[in-house]
Amino acid sequence: MEKIAIGSDHGGLNLKKSIKSYLESKGYEVQDFGTHTSESCDYPVYAKAVAKSVAKGDNDKGILVCGSGIGVSIAANKVKGIRAALCHESCSAKLSRMHNNANVLCLGERITGEVLAYDIVDAWLNTKFESGRHQKRIDMLDEV
Ligand code: RB5
Repeated sequence: MEKIAIGSDHGGLNLKKSIKSYLESKGYEVQDFGTHTSESCDYPVYAKAVAKSVAKGDNDKGILVCGSGIGVSIAANKVKGIRAALCHESCSAKLSRMHNNANVLCLGERITGEVLAYDIVDAWLNTKFESGRHQKRIDMLDEV
């Protein structure tokens, strides 16, 4: 079973907690990088921690949540080797795996409800990278 790193700021705390429980109920090993309280905090801190753990190979994939999902996606994509995809529905989540080999999924708690978020997470975790013509483009990303 894959190991998943998860993190959020205060704006994504509740959805992060729900997704963590959801994943654990399905047998995933989940490492929670915080935040753990509703006190206001800074999303780059948690995005960096999750992204670095995935880039190092300590976890297979990462899931980040903030209010909109935008802040954590911008932050995570600054870490070399990370391909973070902000998704609002499962079609984009699948495509981010098939074509972009996304290794971090970003969600916005203030945008996406819990049930839709589970659908997105399932689609994302259960879709494989197609490789082939897409691999060359993934290699090019590392040079940007
Ligand atoms: C926090 O209020 C909010 O700005 C943050 O969670 C996120 O939406 C930033 O992109």
